[in-house]
Amino acid sequence: MRGQVVIRLGKLEDIDELAQLLMRAYQGLEAYGEESVSEARRYLKWLRRTCKSGFLVAEVNGCVVGFIAACPEWKDWELGTVLEIHEIVVAPEWQGKGVGRALLNQAYSLGHSHGRKLAALWVGVGNMKAREWYKKLGFKEIGRWGEWIRMFRPIPEPKDE
Ligand SMILES: CC(C)(COP(=O)(O)OP(=O)(O)OC[C@H]1O[C@@H](n2cnc3c(N)ncnc32)[C@H](O)[C@@H]1OP(=O)(O)O)[C@@H](O)C(=O)NCCC(=O)NCCS
Repeated sequence: MRGQVVIRLGKLEDIDELAQLLMRAYQGLEAYGEESVSEARRYLKWLRRTCKSGFLVAEVNGCVVGFIAACPEWKDWELGTVLEIHEIVVAPEWQGKGVGRALLNQAYSLGHSHGRKLAALWVGVGNMKAREWYKKLGFKEIGRWGEWIRMFRPIPEPKDE
């Protein structure tokens, strides 16, 4: 990839751009995305409030190319307190270049610093691309609830990355 991926905390001023990015990335996956840009904005504000230090933006050469919203204090009724990956999105033209992996690794570091052992997430049943991607990155499917699949994996030790 030309240029280095820089990961920084997401700001309120990023929300408009991230909403556009989210709508583009979910084209063809509308069942699992947001209905409109304004819904996407509302969702992103909720993610930022909920995830705080886990609301992270990826930039390459100063351009926003993706984000992750990961909460290191999420209570799961089965798994206990986990690092919950609420959302991860990479701009279509930047997919397959390691940006998503870099965002996940940063989220793992946050989870690790909060003493978390597990990362967990929900993914749409029909979002095969993301389901395969998570499997490739070590997540296992552990159940289904309606249109959503629950996945989890142990958070890698920093030295493993
Ligand atoms: C899922 C998503 C975040 C992945 O981000 P990405 O930046 O394209 O992923 P990366 O380039 O970091 O991929 C890392 C590795 O996975 C591989 N990979 C990429 N897509 C893959 C797929 N669909 N299945 C299996 N492996 C895949 C890459 O080749 C790379 O492998 P390597 O390191 O051995 O070369 C991105 O496709 C996306 O934004 N999708 C739309 C939104 C979405 O569905 N989000 C998930 C919500 S639950």
